[in-house]
Amino acid sequence: MSSPKQVNAPNAPSSLDIFSPNLFKGKVVFATGGGSGIGKHVVETMMRHGVDAVIIGRKTDRLTQAANELEAATGRKCIPATADVRDPKSIQAAAKLAVDKLGRIDFVICGAAGNFLAPLSHLSENAFKTVMEIDTLGTFNTFKATIPYVRQTHGAYIHFSATLHYQGSVYQAHVSAAKAGVDALSNVIAIEEGPYGVRSNVIAPGPIGGTPGMDRLSSLDDPSARKIRIPLGRMGEKADIANAAVFLFSNGAAHVTGQILVVDGGAQHTYSGMGVFPYPESVLEFEKIKKLVPRL
Ligand code: COA
Repeated sequence: MSSPKQVNAPNAPSSLDIFSPNLFKGKVVFATGGGSGIGKHVVETMMRHGVDAVIIGRKTDRLTQAANELEAATGRKCIPATADVRDPKSIQAAAKLAVDKLGRIDFVICGAAGNFLAPLSHLSENAFKTVMEIDTLGTFNTFKATIPYVRQTHGAYIHFSATLHYQGSVYQAHVSAAKAGVDALSNVIAIEEGPYGVRSNVIAPGPIGGTPGMDRLSSLDDPSARKIRIPLGRMGEKADIANAAVFLFSNGAAHVTGQILVVDGGAQHTYSGMGVFPYPESVLEFEKIKKLVPRL
């Protein structure tokens, strides 16, 4: 008798096949990290449901190009605001620009993040601090800059986190510590801002194809869904994260706050740490692994 075959999850559907096209009409999203990667895809998806957007990033040229692309793809307004989430003044100026140009802020995506792969023994003090500042302090700064406006609209926050810190993950001490802080901040925002009508939730993506994180692993012999051990059989797609974000910002999630929505095909329950790396060789033979993965 032949063995049963893995049944893969269907590909992520278009959010327009699930949610109303006018879901976010008249609303404004403010997205750090919205100019590239998963953040840009989430913003584009929300714009297809009627939202206007302000995207925040450090590189003006790249951001302006992204804003033009988003407008052309969706017919909605998208304003680029150059700012560094580590600099409270620049993020406050971006929030003011959003309100000056678009009149309101309903939704905030805290998506700016920094990541690279390195064991603790190879992390300088500044390397650790840099990721803590972008992810954790950046989330705090973004919250502080936007909350006066979000209270007015009874809006909502989504923070992009990770599943790395649920257990020890090699090469990810800095990111694990930073994302644990992000999760904790979201919980407190939920309880302190809930009485003002503001919700706060976290999306924790697993491995998502076509992102810098997965690209970095592409030179390993088998960085596949099978090697990472994803029960639903396929790698995550940016659209999986976008669909989760549309749901969490919609009134369908009106009674959902202080939650972490893991979108990883069940992977968090099957792998320990960065499951693609052999253990303990990943620790004992870092220099060898570094040659296999040149961008480490
Ligand atoms: N291994 C070890 N240390 C590293 C590193 C690596 N692969 N990459 C960066 N660092 C260290 C730097 O050496 C520096 O420390 P030092 O001053 O002691 O030398 C510190 O981290 C800050 O790096 P720097 O590049 O100066 O900071 P930055 O603010 O310009 O950028 C990042 C920080 C994290 C955004 C940058 O490293 C980066 O571009 N990473 C890849 C892209 C990315 O993170 N995308 C997000 C995906 S979630």
